[in-house]
Amino acid sequence: MSAGEWTTAEHVHRYLGRADDYPRRVEGESVLLAHVPRDARRVLDLGTGDGRLLALLRIDRHEVVGVGLDFSDFMLEAAGERFAGDERIELVKHDLADPLPALGRFDAVVSSMAIHHLEHERKRSLYGEVLDLLAPGGVFANFEHVASPTHRLHLAFFVAIAEPLEDEDPSDRLLDVESQLEWLRQLGFDDVDCYWKWLEMALLVGVKPAQFESAM
Ligand SMILES: C[S@@+](CC[C@H](N)C(=O)[O-])C[C@H]1O[C@@H](n2cnc3c(N)ncnc32)[C@H](O)[C@@H]1O
Repeated sequence: MSAGEWTTAEHVHRYLGRADDYPRRVEGESVLLAHVPRDARRVLDLGTGDGRLLALLRIDRHEVVGVGLDFSDFMLEAAGERFAGDERIELVKHDLADPLPALGRFDAVVSSMAIHHLEHERKRSLYGEVLDLLAPGGVFANFEHVASPTHRLHLAFFVAIAEPLEDEDPSDRLLDVESQLEWLRQLGFDDVDCYWKWLEMALLVGVKPAQFESAM
């Protein structure tokens, strides 16, 4: 397993205890929300954690049906508590290291600070699976922890988020923005760009073309 820490209560509670404290996080999330179509009916959240992003999406999209996927029992429990009694949210236990299960079509696939835990090769194949799951015109929006271009900037990021470097998540597999944007373009996404960035936090977006023809 590539990110075993997330299956421990200590790691999960430590993250949830400071999830609101990342500087400029709300700003990046609000740009993501602005790029999810207002009329999106089904949304998939990869590495949903306690369902933070789905909850933000639901604020002004009451009709949206959300599927949150994660492999951590502790996270899924927290998400289950958040969405208790909400029939429009489905939580699925799944390790993203493995191919996505059959979940149907989505108008948007979102993710927040999760995919960087996967090995690079898996990140790329996952992006391809996301494209397959999207309806034509559907949006993929990945709010992500990305690699700095230099070690000095990596250190500066940890200073900026007030986290000692010793506490760096050993499950992080950080990758630069450019490589990921290039993959999305190669796979066939349209309008690919980094729509927001602050140090190691970035929003990568791609749209499935309305007339997409699978290479398969
Ligand atoms: C930093 S947390 C982010 C959680 C949530 N998306 C948020 O924005 O608060 C990373 C999440 O990715 C999940 N995750 C990491 N590796 C995973 C994997 N291989 N399969 C599924 N979920 C994974 C963790 O369990 C955790 O919930």
